Amino acid sequence: MRIIAGTARGTRLAPVPTRVRPTSDFVRESVFNALGQFFSGEVLDLYAGTGALGIEALSRGCEGAVFVEKDRRALAAIRENLRRARVADRAEVFAGDVGRVLDRMLTDGRQFNLIFADPPYRIAATEVGGVLSRLGALLASGGRVVIESGEAPSGGTVSKKGVTRRYGGTYVTILERSEITMIVAVCPGSFDPVTVGHLDIIRRASKIFDHVVVAVGANLHKKPRLPAVERARLIEKVTAEIDDVSVELMDGLLVDFAREQGARAIVKGLRAVSDFESEFEQAQLNRTMSPELETVFIMALAEHSFLSSSAVREIASFGGDVRGLVPDGILETVREIYSGSDGNI
Ligand code: PNS
Repeated sequence: MRIIAGTARGTRLAPVPTRVRPTSDFVRESVFNALGQFFSGEVLDLYAGTGALGIEALSRGCEGAVFVEKDRRALAAIRENLRRARVADRAEVFAGDVGRVLDRMLTDGRQFNLIFADPPYRIAATEVGGVLSRLGALLASGGRVVIESGEAPSGGTVSKKGVTRRYGGTYVTILERSEITMIVAVCPGSFDPVTVGHLDIIRRASKIFDHVVVAVGANLHKKPRLPAVERARLIEKVTAEIDDVSVELMDGLLVDFAREQGARAIVKGLRAVSDFESEFEQAQLNRTMSPELETVFIMALAEHSFLSSSAVREIASFGGDVRGLVPDGILETVREIYSGSDGNI
């Protein structure tokens, strides 16, 4: 591996330590081509590995670089590579956990023009989501974040915006500052089936937040009539014309899902005092598990205060008319699926 361009062009980098997955020269060259010609300001290289990305940026004109890495052997390789490229005087190397170093950078008010995040593929999506959600505050205006991954982005801020290119088995996404700082909210529920009340809450949430992820989850106290994929398909159909809304399946804890999606808020609809107790309990528990995630309640319209998925299931199962209770686009499907009670409403 060599530095491709700039003052350190041609510098041969130190052997890659085992367990470190380096960005190949080909991918590095393609990433820098995609970033353009001019490099200046500060660069932050997270999960730095051999430090090749940050050193390439220093070689091409960035004034300073911060490298963050946990692995001892990789840290030694970064220091050796900085020495070989003769850029050590412009670099700071932090040993330790990326999350903790980010917190410190945020406290110190640091700003970067270019941030590389190349997390080892084994790192959980929840951790990566947590890291990404903090990068907005560290990114200078006009700055960009480059994320490398072994699979196509699925879910989360990364998949909503940004340009992803594939180089063999490597996916590289470049995000602008506005795409990182966008505020994502999760609107969770069992949606069995989605009602006009749900749709109203989703629509109103989409006017407040930059992106709303409707999370079709499992409520352990209820046994759904329809599999989650089917429920999600119905929601996709009725939200198709609303901008910046996507639908995902959620298994597991809501707080984990929200972190994976890079979400800052959970949005719930509140119909009446009777909803309050259970919602209050869930919000408190979620806050205990994830204090940075805010639960926001949107008051249901008065005409929806009586409306629930269980009422729709009950009416449909006895052959009653659910027109006006579920969105028109799925009226027939709901009638077909939920008619014919098996006693489970
Ligand atoms: O439409 P519902 O049935 O009121 O939705 C409830 C749901 C799915 C939002 C809730 O059960 C949930 O968050 N499930 C995920 C599991 C979880 O995080 N449980 C802890 C919440 S206290």
